[in-house]
Amino acid sequence: MSLPHHAIRTLAVLGAGQMGTGIALVSSLRAKVPVLLHDKSPQQTKKGLTFLEKLLEKDVNKGRITSSEAKEARDRITVVGEEAGLKGLRDADMVVEAVSENLELKQMLFSNLAREVNPNAILASNTSSISITKIASAAIPKDVSAASEEGKKISGRVVGLHFFNPVPVMKLVELISALQTSQDTLDRARSFAVACGKEVTVSKDVPGFVSNALLMPFINEAIMHLEKGIATRDDIDTTLKLGMNHPMGPLQLADFIGLDTCLAIQETLYNGTRDSKYRPSVLLERMVDAGWYGKKSGKGFYEYS
Ligand code: 3HC
Repeated sequence: MSLPHHAIRTLAVLGAGQMGTGIALVSSLRAKVPVLLHDKSPQQTKKGLTFLEKLLEKDVNKGRITSSEAKEARDRITVVGEEAGLKGLRDADMVVEAVSENLELKQMLFSNLAREVNPNAILASNTSSISITKIASAAIPKDVSAASEEGKKISGRVVGLHFFNPVPVMKLVELISALQTSQDTLDRARSFAVACGKEVTVSKDVPGFVSNALLMPFINEAIMHLEKGIATRDDIDTTLKLGMNHPMGPLQLADFIGLDTCLAIQETLYNGTRDSKYRPSVLLERMVDAGWYGKKSGKGFYEYS
Protein backbone atom coordinates (compact mmCIF):
# COMPACT_ATOMS: atom_id res chain seq x y z
CA MET A 1 0.00 0.00 0.00
CA SER A 2 1.37 3.44 -0.86
CA LEU A 3 1.91 5.87 1.98
CA PRO A 4 0.77 9.50 1.96
CA HIS A 5 3.49 12.12 1.60
CA HIS A 6 3.35 12.94 5.30
CA ALA A 7 5.02 9.57 5.82
CA ILE A 8 8.07 11.75 5.07
CA ARG A 9 8.53 13.25 8.50
CA THR A 10 12.08 14.49 7.88
CA LEU A 11 13.81 15.14 4.59
CA ALA A 12 17.56 15.33 4.09
CA VAL A 13 19.10 17.24 1.21
CA LEU A 14 22.65 16.45 0.22
CA GLY A 15 24.36 19.40 -1.47
CA ALA A 16 23.63 23.09 -0.87
CA GLY A 17 24.22 24.34 -4.41
CA GLN A 18 21.51 26.02 -6.48
CA MET A 19 19.49 22.79 -6.82
CA GLY A 20 19.89 21.53 -3.25
CA THR A 21 19.02 24.91 -1.78
CA GLY A 22 15.92 25.16 -3.97
CA ILE A 23 14.82 21.64 -3.01
CA ALA A 24 15.33 22.45 0.69
CA LEU A 25 13.23 25.60 0.24
CA VAL A 26 10.21 24.02 -1.49
CA SER A 27 10.28 21.05 0.89
CA SER A 28 10.22 23.29 3.93
CA LEU A 29 7.90 26.01 2.61
CA ARG A 30 5.46 23.97 0.52
CA ALA A 31 5.57 20.39 1.89
CA LYS A 32 6.25 21.80 5.38
CA VAL A 33 8.66 19.04 6.38
CA PRO A 34 11.74 19.53 8.56
CA VAL A 35 14.83 19.52 6.34
CA LEU A 36 18.38 18.47 7.21
CA LEU A 37 20.72 20.25 4.81
CA HIS A 38 24.21 18.83 4.39
CA ASP A 39 27.11 20.00 2.26
CA LYS A 40 30.79 19.25 2.76
CA SER A 41 31.59 22.94 2.20
CA PRO A 42 30.47 25.32 4.99
CA GLN A 43 30.95 28.25 2.57
CA GLN A 44 28.55 26.69 0.07
CA THR A 45 25.99 26.04 2.83
CA LYS A 46 26.27 29.66 3.98
CA LYS A 47 25.83 30.94 0.42
CA GLY A 48 22.83 28.64 -0.13
CA LEU A 49 21.13 29.71 3.10
CA THR A 50 21.66 33.40 2.35
CA PHE A 51 20.01 32.93 -1.05
CA LEU A 52 17.16 30.92 0.47
CA GLU A 53 16.54 33.65 3.04
CA LYS A 54 16.45 36.27 0.27
CA LEU A 55 13.82 34.23 -1.60
CA LEU A 56 11.69 33.93 1.54
CA GLU A 57 12.01 37.67 2.14
CA LYS A 58 10.91 38.36 -1.44
CA ASP A 59 7.85 36.11 -0.95
CA VAL A 60 6.98 38.09 2.20
CA ASN A 61 7.47 41.44 0.42
CA LYS A 62 5.22 40.28 -2.41
CA GLY A 63 2.53 39.29 0.11
CA ARG A 64 2.62 35.58 -0.85
CA ILE A 65 3.49 34.43 2.64
CA THR A 66 3.49 36.05 6.05
CA SER A 67 6.71 36.80 7.87
CA SER A 68 5.84 34.12 10.42
CA GLU A 69 5.40 31.54 7.63
CA ALA A 70 8.81 32.58 6.30
CA LYS A 71 10.34 32.23 9.75
CA GLU A 72 8.73 28.81 10.24
CA ALA A 73 10.03 27.67 6.85
CA ARG A 74 13.56 28.89 7.71
CA ASP A 75 13.39 27.30 11.17
CA ARG A 76 12.42 23.93 9.69
CA ILE A 77 15.82 23.81 7.96
CA THR A 78 18.72 22.50 10.05
CA VAL A 79 22.27 22.49 8.77
CA VAL A 80 24.12 19.23 9.37
CA GLY A 81 27.81 20.05 9.45
CA GLU A 82 30.84 18.19 8.19
CA GLU A 83 31.64 16.71 11.62
CA ALA A 84 28.29 14.91 11.82
CA GLY A 85 28.63 13.77 8.19
CA LEU A 86 26.04 11.41 6.73
CA LYS A 87 25.41 9.99 10.22
CA GLY A 88 23.71 13.31 10.96
CA LEU A 89 21.04 12.39 8.38
CA ARG A 90 20.14 9.08 10.01
CA ASP A 91 16.62 10.19 11.06
CA ALA A 92 15.55 11.21 7.57
CA ASP A 93 12.72 9.28 5.87
CA MET A 94 13.92 10.47 2.51
CA VAL A 95 17.23 11.81 1.24
CA VAL A 96 17.48 13.87 -1.94
CA GLU A 97 21.02 13.93 -3.30
CA ALA A 98 21.85 17.07 -5.29
CA VAL A 99 25.63 17.02 -5.66
CA SER A 100 27.55 17.52 -8.91
CA GLU A 101 27.01 15.29 -11.96
CA ASN A 102 29.66 12.69 -11.23
CA LEU A 103 28.80 8.99 -11.31
CA GLU A 104 31.61 7.85 -8.96
CA LEU A 105 30.74 10.52 -6.40
CA LYS A 106 27.05 9.58 -6.47
CA GLN A 107 27.84 5.86 -6.23
CA MET A 108 30.07 6.47 -3.23
CA LEU A 109 27.42 8.62 -1.55
CA PHE A 110 24.60 6.12 -2.11
CA SER A 111 26.73 3.27 -0.81
CA ASN A 112 27.36 5.30 2.37
CA LEU A 113 23.76 6.54 2.62
CA ALA A 114 22.37 2.99 2.47
CA ARG A 115 24.61 2.15 5.44
CA GLU A 116 24.11 5.30 7.49
CA VAL A 117 20.45 6.31 7.22
CA ASN A 118 17.21 4.73 8.37
CA PRO A 119 16.84 1.43 6.45
CA ASN A 120 13.36 2.40 5.22
CA ALA A 121 14.35 5.83 3.93
CA ILE A 122 13.88 6.65 0.25
CA LEU A 123 17.19 7.50 -1.42
CA ALA A 124 16.49 9.91 -4.27
CA SER A 125 18.91 11.41 -6.75
CA ASN A 126 18.36 14.75 -8.44
CA THR A 127 20.73 13.67 -11.22
CA SER A 128 20.11 15.28 -14.61
CA SER A 129 21.20 12.31 -16.68
CA ILE A 130 23.08 9.58 -14.80
CA SER A 131 21.60 6.07 -14.68
CA ILE A 132 19.47 5.60 -11.57
CA THR A 133 19.94 1.85 -12.03
CA LYS A 134 23.74 2.26 -11.66
CA ILE A 135 23.25 4.44 -8.58
CA ALA A 136 20.81 1.89 -7.08
CA SER A 137 23.31 -0.94 -7.65
CA ALA A 138 25.97 1.02 -5.80
CA ALA A 139 23.71 1.25 -2.73
CA ILE A 140 23.94 -2.54 -2.24
CA PRO A 141 26.92 -3.60 -0.07
CA LYS A 142 29.53 -5.70 -1.90
CA ASP A 143 28.79 -8.81 0.18
CA VAL A 144 25.05 -8.74 -0.60
CA SER A 145 23.69 -10.25 -3.81
CA ALA A 146 21.69 -7.83 -5.99
CA ALA A 147 19.09 -10.60 -6.51
CA SER A 148 18.67 -11.42 -2.79
CA GLU A 149 15.72 -10.09 -0.80
CA GLU A 150 18.11 -7.80 1.09
CA GLY A 151 19.70 -6.52 -2.14
CA LYS A 152 16.28 -5.89 -3.69
CA LYS A 153 15.07 -4.09 -0.57
CA ILE A 154 18.07 -1.74 -0.55
CA SER A 155 18.07 -0.94 -4.29
CA GLY A 156 14.25 -0.73 -4.31
CA ARG A 157 14.53 2.43 -2.18
CA VAL A 158 16.48 4.32 -4.85
CA VAL A 159 14.68 6.62 -7.29
CA GLY A 160 15.35 9.58 -9.58
CA LEU A 161 13.66 12.83 -8.56
CA HIS A 162 14.72 15.44 -11.06
CA PHE A 163 13.92 19.05 -10.16
CA PHE A 164 14.43 21.99 -12.52
CA ASN A 165 16.28 25.24 -12.02
CA PRO A 166 15.15 27.57 -10.46
CA VAL A 167 13.45 25.00 -8.24
CA PRO A 168 11.06 27.44 -6.51
CA VAL A 169 9.78 28.65 -9.91
CA MET A 170 9.79 25.61 -12.22
CA LYS A 171 6.65 23.52 -11.87
CA LEU A 172 8.04 20.16 -12.96
CA VAL A 173 9.63 17.16 -11.29
CA GLU A 174 10.66 14.24 -13.47
CA LEU A 175 10.33 10.88 -11.72
CA ILE A 176 12.68 8.13 -12.87
CA SER A 177 12.40 4.51 -11.92
CA ALA A 178 15.56 2.40 -11.83
CA LEU A 179 15.06 -1.23 -12.85
CA GLN A 180 15.12 -1.99 -9.14
CA THR A 181 12.86 0.82 -7.77
CA SER A 182 9.88 -0.48 -5.80
CA GLN A 183 6.34 0.74 -6.46
CA ASP A 184 6.10 1.98 -2.88
CA THR A 185 9.21 4.15 -3.36
CA LEU A 186 7.77 5.57 -6.60
CA ASP A 187 4.43 6.35 -4.95
CA ARG A 188 6.01 8.04 -1.96
CA ALA A 189 8.48 10.03 -4.06
CA ARG A 190 5.67 11.18 -6.35
CA SER A 191 3.41 12.30 -3.51
CA PHE A 192 6.30 14.14 -1.91
CA ALA A 193 6.96 16.05 -5.15
CA VAL A 194 3.24 16.89 -5.38
CA ALA A 195 3.33 18.14 -1.77
CA CYS A 196 6.19 20.45 -2.86
CA GLY A 197 3.74 21.97 -5.37
CA LYS A 198 5.15 20.20 -8.43
CA GLU A 199 3.60 18.42 -11.38
CA VAL A 200 5.21 15.04 -12.03
CA THR A 201 6.13 13.37 -15.31
CA VAL A 202 7.63 9.91 -15.56
CA SER A 203 10.59 8.78 -17.63
CA LYS A 204 12.32 5.48 -18.07
CA ASP A 205 15.93 5.29 -16.93
CA VAL A 206 17.63 6.27 -20.18
CA PRO A 207 20.55 8.74 -20.46
CA GLY A 208 19.20 12.26 -19.90
CA PHE A 209 15.67 10.89 -19.28
CA VAL A 210 13.06 12.79 -21.35
CA SER A 211 14.08 16.31 -20.33
CA ASN A 212 17.79 16.42 -21.01
CA ALA A 213 17.75 13.96 -23.92
CA LEU A 214 15.68 16.64 -25.69
CA LEU A 215 17.12 19.83 -24.18
CA MET A 216 20.85 19.12 -24.45
CA PRO A 217 21.04 18.49 -28.23
CA PHE A 218 19.14 21.76 -28.65
CA ILE A 219 21.64 23.68 -26.48
CA ASN A 220 24.58 21.93 -28.13
CA GLU A 221 23.29 22.75 -31.61
CA ALA A 222 23.00 26.43 -30.61
CA ILE A 223 26.64 26.38 -29.40
CA MET A 224 27.70 24.76 -32.70
CA HIS A 225 25.86 27.51 -34.61
CA LEU A 226 27.90 30.07 -32.67
CA GLU A 227 31.12 28.08 -33.19
CA LYS A 228 30.55 27.91 -36.95
CA GLY A 229 29.79 31.65 -37.13
CA ILE A 230 26.27 31.08 -38.48
CA ALA A 231 24.93 33.81 -36.22
CA THR A 232 26.03 35.92 -33.26
CA ARG A 233 25.27 34.97 -29.68
CA ASP A 234 22.57 37.62 -29.45
CA ASP A 235 20.96 36.67 -32.75
CA ILE A 236 20.82 32.98 -31.78
CA ASP A 237 19.24 33.75 -28.40
CA THR A 238 16.88 36.43 -29.74
CA THR A 239 15.70 34.11 -32.53
CA LEU A 240 14.61 31.49 -30.02
CA LYS A 241 13.26 33.99 -27.48
CA LEU A 242 11.16 36.05 -29.82
CA GLY A 243 10.58 33.52 -32.59
CA MET A 244 9.58 30.62 -30.37
CA ASN A 245 8.61 32.38 -27.13
CA HIS A 246 11.28 30.66 -25.07
CA PRO A 247 11.87 32.50 -21.77
CA MET A 248 15.63 32.40 -22.43
CA GLY A 249 17.71 31.77 -25.52
CA PRO A 250 19.67 28.47 -25.52
CA LEU A 251 23.06 30.13 -24.85
CA GLN A 252 21.70 32.12 -21.93
CA LEU A 253 19.99 28.96 -20.66
CA ALA A 254 23.27 27.03 -20.91
CA ASP A 255 24.96 29.74 -18.80
CA PHE A 256 22.09 29.54 -16.34
CA ILE A 257 22.30 25.73 -15.98
CA GLY A 258 26.12 25.89 -15.82
CA LEU A 259 28.39 25.04 -18.74
CA ASP A 260 30.21 22.40 -16.68
CA THR A 261 26.85 20.77 -15.91
CA CYS A 262 25.80 20.95 -19.58
CA LEU A 263 29.07 19.31 -20.59
CA ALA A 264 28.75 16.58 -17.93
CA ILE A 265 25.19 15.81 -19.10
CA GLN A 266 26.23 15.78 -22.76
CA GLU A 267 29.10 13.41 -21.98
CA THR A 268 26.69 11.08 -20.17
CA LEU A 269 24.32 11.21 -23.17
CA TYR A 270 27.13 10.62 -25.68
CA ASN A 271 28.84 7.84 -23.69
CA GLY A 272 25.54 6.24 -22.72
CA THR A 273 24.09 6.09 -26.24
CA ARG A 274 27.26 6.18 -28.42
CA ASP A 275 25.15 8.33 -30.73
CA SER A 276 27.11 11.13 -32.43
CA LYS A 277 24.13 13.46 -32.26
CA TYR A 278 24.98 13.93 -28.57
CA ARG A 279 28.70 14.72 -29.06
CA PRO A 280 29.50 17.92 -27.10
CA SER A 281 30.79 20.82 -29.17
CA VAL A 282 34.50 21.65 -28.92
CA LEU A 283 33.63 25.23 -27.97
CA LEU A 284 31.67 24.02 -24.92
CA GLU A 285 34.60 21.81 -23.88
CA ARG A 286 37.08 24.68 -24.24
CA MET A 287 34.89 27.08 -22.28
CA VAL A 288 34.74 24.58 -19.43
CA ASP A 289 38.54 24.07 -19.74
CA ALA A 290 38.87 27.84 -19.30
CA GLY A 291 36.77 27.76 -16.11
CA TRP A 292 33.95 29.70 -17.79
CA TYR A 293 31.05 27.87 -16.19
CA GLY A 294 28.35 30.44 -16.93
CA LYS A 295 26.41 32.54 -14.45
CA LYS A 296 27.85 30.85 -11.35
CA SER A 297 31.47 31.70 -12.28
CA GLY A 298 30.75 35.20 -13.65
CA LYS A 299 31.47 34.30 -17.28
CA GLY A 300 30.04 32.02 -19.89
CA PHE A 301 28.49 33.11 -23.15
CA TYR A 302 27.60 36.29 -21.22
CA GLU A 303 29.38 38.23 -18.47
CA TYR A 304 27.82 38.44 -15.00
CA SER A 305 28.68 40.87 -12.24
N1 3HC B 1 16.11 31.15 -8.04
C1 3HC B 1 14.88 31.39 -7.57
N2 3HC B 1 13.99 32.21 -8.17
C2 3HC B 1 14.39 32.85 -9.27
C3 3HC B 1 15.68 32.67 -9.83
C4 3HC B 1 16.55 31.78 -9.15
N3 3HC B 1 17.78 31.51 -9.62
N4 3HC B 1 15.78 33.43 -10.94
C5 3HC B 1 14.61 34.06 -11.08
N5 3HC B 1 13.77 33.69 -10.09
C6 3HC B 1 12.41 34.15 -9.88
C7 3HC B 1 12.36 35.63 -9.67
O1 3HC B 1 12.65 35.96 -8.33
C8 3HC B 1 10.94 35.94 -10.06
O2 3HC B 1 10.10 35.57 -8.99
P1 3HC B 1 8.80 36.44 -8.65
O3 3HC B 1 7.80 36.13 -9.69
O4 3HC B 1 8.45 35.91 -7.33
O5 3HC B 1 9.25 37.85 -8.62
C9 3HC B 1 10.66 34.97 -11.19
O6 3HC B 1 11.65 33.93 -11.07
C10 3HC B 1 10.79 35.62 -12.53
O7 3HC B 1 12.06 36.22 -12.57
P2 3HC B 1 12.39 37.56 -13.36
O8 3HC B 1 11.14 38.39 -13.47
O9 3HC B 1 13.58 38.18 -12.74
O10 3HC B 1 12.91 37.06 -14.76
P3 3HC B 1 12.20 36.22 -15.88
O11 3HC B 1 10.77 36.58 -16.07
O12 3HC B 1 13.15 36.33 -17.00
O13 3HC B 1 12.25 34.72 -15.33
C11 3HC B 1 13.28 32.62 -15.23
C12 3HC B 1 13.43 34.10 -14.93
C13 3HC B 1 12.16 32.03 -14.37
C14 3HC B 1 14.59 31.97 -14.81
C15 3HC B 1 12.95 32.44 -16.74
O14 3HC B 1 13.90 33.11 -17.52
C16 3HC B 1 12.91 31.00 -17.19
O15 3HC B 1 11.91 30.31 -17.01
N6 3HC B 1 14.02 30.54 -17.80
C17 3HC B 1 14.14 29.16 -18.27
C18 3HC B 1 14.48 28.30 -17.09
C19 3HC B 1 14.61 26.87 -17.49
O16 3HC B 1 14.42 26.45 -18.62
N7 3HC B 1 14.96 26.04 -16.50
C20 3HC B 1 15.20 24.64 -16.73
C21 3HC B 1 16.66 24.44 -16.91
S1 3HC B 1 17.03 22.77 -17.25
C22 3HC B 1 17.16 22.06 -15.77
O17 3HC B 1 17.07 22.65 -14.73
C23 3HC B 1 17.40 20.58 -15.78
C24 3HC B 1 18.79 20.26 -15.43
O18 3HC B 1 18.88 18.87 -15.34
C25 3HC B 1 19.82 20.78 -16.38
